Amino acid sequence: MQRDVEKGLGTADAMKKIWMNGTLVDPAEAKVSVLSHTLHYGVGVFEGIRGYMGPKGGAIFRLADHVKRLFLSSKVYRLPIPYTEEQVLKAIVETQAVNDIWPSYIRPIVYRDGPALGVKNLTTKVSLAIAAVPAKKYLGEKSDEGIRAKISPFRKAHSDAMPALAKAVGNYLGSYLAGTDASQDGYDEAILLDKNGFLAEGTGENLFMVRSGTVYTPGTEGDILLGITRDSVIRIAQDLGVPVVQKQLSVGELLAADEVFFTGTYAEIAPVREVSHYTIGNGKPGPITRDVQDIFYRTVSGEESKYAAWLYPVPALARPVARTGRR
Ligand SMILES: Cc1ncc(COP(=O)(O)O)c(C=O)c1O
Repeated sequence: MQRDVEKGLGTADAMKKIWMNGTLVDPAEAKVSVLSHTLHYGVGVFEGIRGYMGPKGGAIFRLADHVKRLFLSSKVYRLPIPYTEEQVLKAIVETQAVNDIWPSYIRPIVYRDGPALGVKNLTTKVSLAIAAVPAKKYLGEKSDEGIRAKISPFRKAHSDAMPALAKAVGNYLGSYLAGTDASQDGYDEAILLDKNGFLAEGTGENLFMVRSGTVYTPGTEGDILLGITRDSVIRIAQDLGVPVVQKQLSVGELLAADEVFFTGTYAEIAPVREVSHYTIGNGKPGPITRDVQDIFYRTVSGEESKYAAWLYPVPALARPVARTGRR
């Protein structure tokens, strides 16, 4: 289990404040009722966002897109966020600035804090909290060099039951089952198939493969989260002149791939060197993975001007900023 401690989410010790319903509170004060609807039924939505420090100062990667996805997820799960997109965006910047943690993993969560039992709940107050913790590598500090993934016996829930494009709390039950199974078997990550046996995604990442110079990834009609890193990688690959095909993909195609990699906010771009004991390519990150990785890391660290619009600047704070109120 030591592996999980090393790999997992960053320690929260460095956290100074949590933004809760418009107020910055001490982390010890950021409490939710044990009878909260979200705790009992998993009806909540969240985002995972990264802050990076670069030569021009701190910035948040694709912030507006993350905020948009948070609102989309909350619409699917009937959780009306009591703020505008602009207010949420500013609250995230404020939380990042006040905590001043770099690189950071920022976690806004929308939930019903109850107390209320009974699943058909549309009346309990909808709350928003935002935390920022130090970011580590989700798949281990050496994940840029390639990880080992296991094809999971647990299938991805079908979107007819739980829409995968919403980043919802309850969706992660499947990720938990697949991820813990893979790690108990000594793998770094799980690959979930959909109910028809086509490739879906990782527990917290989208999946890509390369074959004969073409990049492939499961399409938007699949049971996948429409990852913001996925979208960035598609754009970077296309700009490099590499064709990108989005389609249903089989396990056979994956095992025959020249290169495989995961993408995600926390995992960033993680080459996969082995899938369920099958070596991918020559067992090392392939050239297209490396090229995309290189541009991605230069982009997030503020060294690549082409995609500079993806970085939302965070002002350095001389003193705490004004509080953001409820609408
Ligand atoms: C299930 C799942 N798929 C894919 C991703 C990758 O999405 P993104 O690149 O927006 O972080 C994530 C991470 O948020 C995830 O949890």
